[in-house]
Amino acid sequence: MSIKRLKKQVFSSILSNSSIYSQASVLKELVENSIDALIESTNGRICVEIDAKSAGLQYMVVHDNGSGISKDGRSLMCLNCTTSKLRTIDDLNQGITTCGFRGEALYFISQLSKQMQIKTRTAHDDVCEVWNVNKEGLPSAVPEKIAGPFGTTVKLQEIFSSTPVRKQFLQKHFRSQMEKIRRMIIGYSFAYRNIRFQLEVLDVSFNGHLGSVIDNMMIPSKSSSLEIAMNVLKLREKESLFELDESVDIHIPNSDDTFKVHISGVLPRMRAQDEVAASRRLKVLFVNERLLSLKLKFGRTISRGLNDLYEQAMLLKPQAWFLKLDIPPEIVDVNIEPSKDDVMIPAELILLTDVFRCLRRIIRKECTVPEEQPEDLTNFGTSNPSLDADDVELTVQTIAPVDTTSSDGKADSLFVPNNCDHTTKRVETHVSILHESSDDEASSIILSPQEELTQVRESLTSPPTSQPKPIQISLKRIPLISEMSQRTLGLVQNVLFTPSRNKDHRNDILFRESGWTSRVGIPTQLLQLGFVEILKKNGHRVSLSSLKTELNKDGIFKVEF
Ligand SMILES: Nc1ncnc2c1ncn2[C@@H]1O[C@H](COP(=O)(O)OP(=O)(O)OP(=O)(O)O)[C@@H](O)[C@H]1O
Ligand SMILES: [Mg+2]
Repeated sequence: MSIKRLKKQVFSSILSNSSIYSQASVLKELVENSIDALIESTNGRICVEIDAKSAGLQYMVVHDNGSGISKDGRSLMCLNCTTSKLRTIDDLNQGITTCGFRGEALYFISQLSKQMQIKTRTAHDDVCEVWNVNKEGLPSAVPEKIAGPFGTTVKLQEIFSSTPVRKQFLQKHFRSQMEKIRRMIIGYSFAYRNIRFQLEVLDVSFNGHLGSVIDNMMIPSKSSSLEIAMNVLKLREKESLFELDESVDIHIPNSDDTFKVHISGVLPRMRAQDEVAASRRLKVLFVNERLLSLKLKFGRTISRGLNDLYEQAMLLKPQAWFLKLDIPPEIVDVNIEPSKDDVMIPAELILLTDVFRCLRRIIRKECTVPEEQPEDLTNFGTSNPSLDADDVELTVQTIAPVDTTSSDGKADSLFVPNNCDHTTKRVETHVSILHESSDDEASSIILSPQEELTQVRESLTSPPTSQPKPIQISLKRIPLISEMSQRTLGLVQNVLFTPSRNKDHRNDILFRESGWTSRVGIPTQLLQLGFVEILKKNGHRVSLSSLKTELNKDGIFKVEF
């Protein structure tokens, strides 16, 4: 094919694909324009309306009460490379503080919408002016003057109608677009506390008539980020989350250069008792005024880094967080991606090391589970020197109906944490005494520490009377396990230590997965690490590689060591 210059329409549809590719990306550009127009406002409002059936493909409106577009700028606003936010390349290099800077978004949006209308009024205008913009980015008729509020309203109809395949795809996935849009609005509300954000989902008929409001999300301005997080995550307990407000001095090695990074936001505690541990996913990262994608480099690094910090602190991966890094704009390159949602920072490695160090300290401080006060243990362990008080502080609760006979057919034994050698650390379990009652009764047995001690002592001294049954041991009552359970195993209450020694003379632990673990997705490796830690603390020589684990379809997590 010979080389030919593309027709303007073909050219612009191809170009627009680069940064504006979905309802959410169109909306992002319009909302960011509104945010930029509200930079000076203390009482800003942005209201977004989208149709429910296509998440904005058919109908999308963004209204703000910002500065409005000045009279002399209106004929340029939808042309390519026209902006009020940047004049020279130095403006960009010295650090741009507006969301937009390329002067292309409205141009692209006008290309891909069947109808685009902009209504605007500045503080100097007596009335609003309405522009119906054509594909050239120019008014299709003489702009109309009507009464209306200050600010700007952009109304789009039938977006992506010139790219039918994309439109079909986006229509099919409108629910995920709706969710993206929701999260995006929530994200902006965290960072722009001077603005009240509202998202209205409307019933719009096929011929464009507006029906009822199906969903209305409003995030008032001046709410604290903790309040916003509680609200949008539908949490009741404030303690599930904590607010961050730290400054870190970053020093560039071999130079006198230093700069400050301010870290703010809300992080989840992710302890077992925290509601947020199982709450919905909502991760928001801002660098300065910019909402970053967590799929692109900087955002991905922060997101993975946070996961690692939580994992290192023996906590579940955080599913919901809001983090804002304020970095001097002159060292942040924002012109990386067409969608303006990634940044590049020359001193990135140093900066991230210091930021993560700071976050690690805060996470450890905020998420540590306070040690449970031990109960009165003064009488414990006195008659049996091989047992420490801690070793026997356990609650025997229910009897699980599983077969506990070891593979060699012998009676099973109860694992009790202690520091004895291999032959004694597996205390022979003759605690069947506890299970002579019916299952119903047994399930309600919660013994006092004294009773437990007596029974365990009896079990140690008397011969087995019947086939022992497996016992569930409440993790909460065993301090070492409690620590692991709360940090790592989450709400899991019961561990089934089957008391068995298999053919290879290996020890088995059966851990009954409560369903909660899989719901919040505790990784198997974390469970393994948890068990290694528990076992090590109890004098076993185990490592991750010597631990064999298996999660069967009944939810039994079998650990061999
Ligand atoms: N809601 C608004 N309120 C006031 N002015 C606006 C609004 N939306 C657009 N404008 C004006 O129109 C211009 C063009 O907008 P457009 O989004 O195309 O470019 P930009 O925001 O400057 O850069 P970018 O392409 O990176 O978004 C803006 O520079 C701004 O002056
Ligand atoms: Mg813009």
